[in-house]
Amino acid sequence: MVNLVTLLVLWFSVICTIYNVKLMVHGSARSESTRFYDFKVQTKRVAKLCNSKDIVTVNGMFPGPVVYAQEDDRIIVKVTNETPFNVTIHWHGIRQRRSCWYDGPSYITQCPIQAGQSFTYNFTVENQKGTFFWHAHVSWLRGTVHGAMVVYPKNMVPLPFKIPYQEQIIILGNLQGGSLCLNSVLHVVCCELIRIIAGEYWLQDLQQIEHSTLVSGGAPPKADAYTINSHPGPNYNCSINDVYQLNVIQGKTYLLRLINAGLNTENFFAIANHNVTIVEADGEYTKPFATDMVMLGPGQTLNVLVSADQPVGKYSMVVAPYKSGRIVKYQNVSAIAYFNYIGAASDSSYLPAKLPKLDDKLAVKRFMDGLRSLNLANVFKEIDKNIFITIGLNVQKCHSKTPKQNCQAMNNGVLTASMNNISFVHPSISILEAYYKKINGSYTEDFPDAPSKFYDFVNGAPNNIPYDTESLNGTRTKVLEYGTKVQLILQNTGTVNIENHPIHIHGYSFYVVGYGTGNYDPLAAQFNLVDPPYMNTIGVPVGGWAAVRFVADNPGVWYMHCHIDIHQSWGLGMVFIVKNGKGDLESLPHPPPDLPPC
Ligand code: C2O
Repeated sequence: MVNLVTLLVLWFSVICTIYNVKLMVHGSARSESTRFYDFKVQTKRVAKLCNSKDIVTVNGMFPGPVVYAQEDDRIIVKVTNETPFNVTIHWHGIRQRRSCWYDGPSYITQCPIQAGQSFTYNFTVENQKGTFFWHAHVSWLRGTVHGAMVVYPKNMVPLPFKIPYQEQIIILGNLQGGSLCLNSVLHVVCCELIRIIAGEYWLQDLQQIEHSTLVSGGAPPKADAYTINSHPGPNYNCSINDVYQLNVIQGKTYLLRLINAGLNTENFFAIANHNVTIVEADGEYTKPFATDMVMLGPGQTLNVLVSADQPVGKYSMVVAPYKSGRIVKYQNVSAIAYFNYIGAASDSSYLPAKLPKLDDKLAVKRFMDGLRSLNLANVFKEIDKNIFITIGLNVQKCHSKTPKQNCQAMNNGVLTASMNNISFVHPSISILEAYYKKINGSYTEDFPDAPSKFYDFVNGAPNNIPYDTESLNGTRTKVLEYGTKVQLILQNTGTVNIENHPIHIHGYSFYVVGYGTGNYDPLAAQFNLVDPPYMNTIGVPVGGWAAVRFVADNPGVWYMHCHIDIHQSWGLGMVFIVKNGKGDLESLPHPPPDLPPC
């Protein structure tokens, strides 16, 4: 058996070598290609953890199919909705230059694709390469409707690190690896892609959980399991054999593409006895940084190299919660996958991985401090627009006649979340459509540049009774002139609870120029304008702040929100409207003809 595996692996590596040689000989400056994909959104019965249930998938796969492309390619995905639910797909991390119509967040850039309907997404991956992922962007469907997106560099463009022997994608919460060349469309680069997708799994139906949580006014139930490429690993009920295993050859180096596709939990990831070297974060190269663990919030991706330099054996890869919120209930049992050396006895037990304490903020800070852009960053120094945004939770007063059922938050209130104390309410038509067609009434343009008052946000937050922590409701947007140089200060408040929030922006990446604990103090804050990481999601530290900068040069309507789904459902988001500049190249084109109606 072992010999057969070894043979297979060797066979793949020979094929890869041949392809690579071909690439060296024939790889000329190829012009951009178009990649076509057919996504059928379907329900599928899955059995896990002694139970089975119907989940929503793409093409019956969980995690879904990998979308492959090369830098600057066009990607065309026809999405057909064969379920009774509303669906949209978002291409997380793809900047969608002048293609806001295809960005995907429901009621922000499009109305959902209704049952039986289809919509064809059509965009380029201009100036982007790396690991991304796609996911549903409506209700909580993202929990099972997600998959990796891998954009390779152009031919003949070298990687800034030694070519690894094999790659792997890891989706936290969902791990699906070992797809090798089989479902790839790019024969020159397809070999042995490794993706590690972390996820969260619930026995109950996700849309029902979202609904019943919102109706209850209280907190959501914790996940029943974390998963690695959709396998929970041996620590849960009935899951002893539901384990993802990556087979490695001693002495070789592997590229793992880590994706956190989980809904509500930030995760630590580590491999027993092995360091990993981070080489890319959120689809941008970083200075190589060796670490014994990483932390990924929902919506974050990392490429890491790992060398199989330990004695032959079976080592665990672990996905555990980062328990950043004191009063949040987390699933305590970790997902385990195997990092298995070929030649290890097949029945051998595995070595457990060491992790920091699961609420260790300093360990997370050390990890974040290691993320630096590979090259010098060209961060602007003069800021046109400084926007200060508080982020956090709120408790509303109970207005229900059945408070026992509907007001289960502390002090018999209702949990919500907000930015600048405004809970974002999704409109019933798409904001982009309303903006483009000048339809009044579904949103306003008065999202404030600062909270209505400044106080000690972290330690002096009101916390006693629902009406002193209430937020306003609104569909408020912030309008930016084309080309505005924006700085955002994101400040976590201590209202209800301090907690790490992975804040994600659509349509842009931003330089993370600073972050810290406590209240942001412009005089004391230390900024890195030399080599800050260029990211699309920033985990704003627990009870702390983060400063990010971007140039608003992509016209359209762009959602910015917490990537923890329950926080998004509670209203932790806002929308930027970026106006057209001059001429076609700085303007949003017309909407596509098949844009779904509401
Ligand atoms: Cu990956 Cu608006 O999200």
